[in-house]
Amino acid sequence: MALRPGMEEDRSPVRIIVLGATGSIGKSLADLIARNPYRFDVVALVANQNAAGLAEMAVRLKARRAVLCDDTCRKDLANRLDGSGVAVSAGEGAVLEAVDLEADLVVGAIVGSAGLKPTLAAIKPGRRIALANKECLVCAGNLFMDRVRQAGAELLPVDSEHNAIFQVFETAQADLVEKVILTASGGPFRTFTTREMADVTPAQALKHPNWDMGSRITIDSATMMNKGFEVIEASHLFPVRHDQLGVLVHPQSAVHGLVQYKDGSLLAQMGSPDMRTPIAHCLAFPRRMDVPVKRLDLAALGTLTFEAPDLDRFPALRLALEAMQVGGTAPAALNAADEVAVEAFLNERIGFLDIPAAIEAVLQKLDGAGRLAAARDAGDVLALDAEARRKTGEWISAR
Ligand SMILES: NC(=O)c1ccc[n+]([C@@H]2O[C@H](COP(=O)([O-])OP(=O)(O)OC[C@H]3O[C@@H](n4cnc5c(N)ncnc54)[C@H](OP(=O)(O)O)[C@@H]3O)[C@@H](O)[C@H]2O)c1
Repeated sequence: MALRPGMEEDRSPVRIIVLGATGSIGKSLADLIARNPYRFDVVALVANQNAAGLAEMAVRLKARRAVLCDDTCRKDLANRLDGSGVAVSAGEGAVLEAVDLEADLVVGAIVGSAGLKPTLAAIKPGRRIALANKECLVCAGNLFMDRVRQAGAELLPVDSEHNAIFQVFETAQADLVEKVILTASGGPFRTFTTREMADVTPAQALKHPNWDMGSRITIDSATMMNKGFEVIEASHLFPVRHDQLGVLVHPQSAVHGLVQYKDGSLLAQMGSPDMRTPIAHCLAFPRRMDVPVKRLDLAALGTLTFEAPDLDRFPALRLALEAMQVGGTAPAALNAADEVAVEAFLNERIGFLDIPAAIEAVLQKLDGAGRLAAARDAGDVLALDAEARRKTGEWISAR
């Protein structure tokens, strides 16, 4: 009988492909692999343009192949890896070839909707997919979950909140679950009035109080759009109704997710805010592995606080919850508009409050034009994604 990767008895290393290797998730993952080299066989590392970062990581992790999506960076990567024994390729086709290689585990950590096609292509029979990329579930949740089911693949959530819920959600007793609760730190502007938020700068918004993450997700945390995306993701990951999903603002980020059962039990997963814990959970599942994260010292922490989210001060969360109710391609449009608006904010073309304003305007336009229908395939999702991006760009230019 073939043993699952990560089980103690299984001495053969887990063959792993990492999509988005040079990002924040990718680097945390690389740290864990480097500490346990005998447990992993790195089949391929994939990034977009960062030839220097990818080459360094490929050598450090003894990867067999390094792949850049941007073809124009191929030469740079090839020069850096010359003589290293690491195979090099580049271009969209090369990324799709890489996910086709024999592997037990694929980590999907590309940022943005660019992650959709390669992660969908990575779903194969018997494979385990550790998913960090949000867009796969936000933009194409039904398609993605159908593909996972049809392939008989196994999906493990990397994001700390979903991973927390995954750890305390008893699938065999899903009918006895009353509520699934995602916690949110509230971001750097948790106590700000709307007036105060009008003038915040990208530098202020990029200072997350607890988590160290990529820039897009950090801004999404400041607007609380990120929590909205996570609720949408949870609606696909867990067998619950929309009205069973809730959000609690918890500034200490010690409790990451909770599941309430019909007997009144409320189970929570807790830990320090360090992505290496949920990533390690996915790497070693169904067992656990040593991770050198700071241990949560509850006595030192003293107090844990919780509050309801304020949908008036954080309209992005409201927009996400509305898009989930509308369904179809509404979450894909929401995500695309957000991606463009966040970039414009980071480039100081629009203000912080313009982010939700732009998204709301674009969603209303698309809804009015009857464009938020069900998607049949990834092509439908990407077409709507492109349209929402264009409309958001127009809204921004008209400011
Ligand atoms: N960071 C977190 O703590 C965290 C937590 C939960 C969920 N997530 C989700 O995980 C995903 C990754 O987040 P992150 O914070 O790690 O992002 P990040 O730091 O911005 O890194 C993004 C990675 O994706 C690669 N990439 C971008 N476009 C690509 C393309 N077209 N083809 C191939 N690779 C491409 C980048 O390569 P280059 O370096 O070459 O540009 C980089 O390796 C996001 O969806 C995020 O929402 C992140």
